[in-house]
Amino acid sequence: MLAGLLPTMLAARGLARPQPLSLARVAAANGLRFGSAMRLDALADPVVRELLIDNCATLTPELEFKWAAVAPAAGRYDFAAADRVAAFARAGSFRVRGHTLLWHRSIPAWAETAIAGDAGWTVVGDHIRAMMARYGAVVDEWDVINEPIEIGSRPDGLRSSGLLNAFGRDYIARALRDAHAAAPQARLLINEYDLEYPIPAQQARRDAMLALVRSLVGQGVPLHGVGIQAHLDLAKGPIDAVVLRTFLDAIGALGLTVSITELDVKERDYILPAAQRDRAVAAQVAQFLTAVLPHRAVTSLSCWGLSDRQSWLQVTPADQARFPGAWQDGTSPGLNRGLPFDSAGGAKPMRQTIAAALALPRT
Ligand code: XIL
Repeated sequence: MLAGLLPTMLAARGLARPQPLSLARVAAANGLRFGSAMRLDALADPVVRELLIDNCATLTPELEFKWAAVAPAAGRYDFAAADRVAAFARAGSFRVRGHTLLWHRSIPAWAETAIAGDAGWTVVGDHIRAMMARYGAVVDEWDVINEPIEIGSRPDGLRSSGLLNAFGRDYIARALRDAHAAAPQARLLINEYDLEYPIPAQQARRDAMLALVRSLVGQGVPLHGVGIQAHLDLAKGPIDAVVLRTFLDAIGALGLTVSITELDVKERDYILPAAQRDRAVAAQVAQFLTAVLPHRAVTSLSCWGLSDRQSWLQVTPADQARFPGAWQDGTSPGLNRGLPFDSAGGAKPMRQTIAAALALPRT
């Protein structure tokens, strides 16, 4: 049904909208790719769907490719939602970021139990092969491992997940080798959060990530890139371009590329007028993107949604509690305004910031 709508929309777009507006075109002209995450329900929303069609070359399934989403019970797959995303991508000539094969927050309960028992690696390997066989034709790059770093649980900075407990730190190399065997052409990534700010907690995460990828590359494990999620946060302070470029240099020196995979901005001061909030968000995005996009290791940028109406970021009661007495006139802080388009689909300063950064000379 969704896929059926596409040809009409694509034709309409060509007539109605000046193509230079497309962020994907700005990116492509500079050797980069631009895209966004999308949920199936957002694809059914005409405002969001049109933003995606107008601006994106790549699409990341926000939920539908995750293990717990496709495998509700042992021995049973339900690919209905993932198939619909893939069909939409095929019909609209989007390339898909395969997100994600192994993520500690999305391993189905039955698989966690099996892994903790004596099921062995087969349950993991079978999942990797099933996903890559089914979606390999539309997917360019896979987040094979999502969020493996956690400072504090082990000296090597790896997260002590069910996978790590069952198979040791080698689970990462095993997953990458299985993924490469299943789809030798596919680009394989490790995707991670909290790598963006110069604060010590994040420097420790960058160091752990570098140590991990250095060891994998040293062992000849098929790994092609690192995903930097880029969930920016105005509470975490300014970006340091030198710190970021040093990190990118180190990844590039290992022969790996970098994808910016989940850009959005968590706000802090919800009490400010909307225009001021939008400027603060755009300024932070400008700091980050002007530091990373010109770097030759970086190949793509994806936002974690396009319109504030689809953002996974919520204005929580704790956020509101920071401003006692606010919104007593019955108004509300509204949505978190951390994506390039507002809730009605209108472009905000962040959109212009992204366009400008995508066009910066590559170094
Ligand atoms: C998030 C989705 O956006 C939410 O809708 C869902 O409830 C939880 O997952 N890092 C990731 C993404 O790699 O998969 C997460 O997506 C956001 C954080």
